[in-house]
Amino acid sequence: MADSSLRTVLVTGAGGRTGQIVYKKLKERPNQYVTKGLVRTEQSKLKIGGADDVFIGDIRDAESITPAFQGIDALIILTSAVPQMKPGFDPTKGGRPEFYFADGAYPEQVDWIGQKNQIDAAKGAGVNHIVLVGSMGGTNPNHPLNILGNGNILVWKRKAEQYLVDSGVPYTIIRPGGLQDKEGGLRELIVGKNDELLQTETKGIPRADVAEVCVQALNYEEVQFKAFDLASKPEGVGTPTKDFKALFSQITASF
Ligand SMILES: NC(=O)c1ccc[n+]([C@@H]2O[C@H](COP(=O)([O-])OP(=O)(O)OC[C@H]3O[C@@H](n4cnc5c(N)ncnc54)[C@H](OP(=O)(O)O)[C@@H]3O)[C@@H](O)[C@H]2O)c1
Repeated sequence: MADSSLRTVLVTGAGGRTGQIVYKKLKERPNQYVTKGLVRTEQSKLKIGGADDVFIGDIRDAESITPAFQGIDALIILTSAVPQMKPGFDPTKGGRPEFYFADGAYPEQVDWIGQKNQIDAAKGAGVNHIVLVGSMGGTNPNHPLNILGNGNILVWKRKAEQYLVDSGVPYTIIRPGGLQDKEGGLRELIVGKNDELLQTETKGIPRADVAEVCVQALNYEEVQFKAFDLASKPEGVGTPTKDFKALFSQITASF
């Protein structure tokens, strides 16, 4: 018989670099969560073990993702448009690579329509919490990431964040700085607001730490109806963050 104290949590973008860490972390806590994943392709499903709890769907197509949302209590959104590097770039010749988004996979379609479809589906399923991972930099419309591939990615991410706030569903918006593929749990984490951390030396964070913050956010009311920037001090500086209640209690902004 199903244990009613367990929360059913869906992670989308579960085959992505941060999404797969979140999916794994939730699976490692079977006494707390029933975990489900949403990925875009069979290939991504196999990458994270191919279990029956991983659904395949495209967030741009609302109907295709509905089955994954059935019966969930909470949602963690880790989907994003991903810029592709134009072929022919030769780092030995200097200069900068150019990027593009594939047709139909621009941030407008993925980060706006795709996130909106997920928020609507989650609201329809009656979830009690949505955790959305966005990005630092959204306060500056001229941020270089907006120029990348002519996609205005931070603008569309921000619009989706506003849609989430307006949905009325309890939410947590996490806006990390530059993501690093480094070990988690070794650094002191820092929260901020309004991109103020971008003016400091501490603007990066391991994906594994972002993943842990996503999972921890499910447990603390302090972090509901809140939005925050997230970075980490370098390893060896400060004290590695273990007390997430204390970290979350520093957050004051609702957007
Ligand atoms: N890179 C950075 O430095 C940085 C900095 C700050 C914030 N962020 C943000 O942090 C989040 C996590 O980043 P990440 O680098 O870990 O992510 P990632 O590896 O790029 O993963 C993105 C995921 O989105 C999925 N996706 C894309 N289009 C989809 C669609 N139409 N339907 C379903 N799924 C779709 C991809 O699936 P497939 O694998 O099938 O393509 C992929 O698994 C993202 O929102 C990112 O923008 C990144």
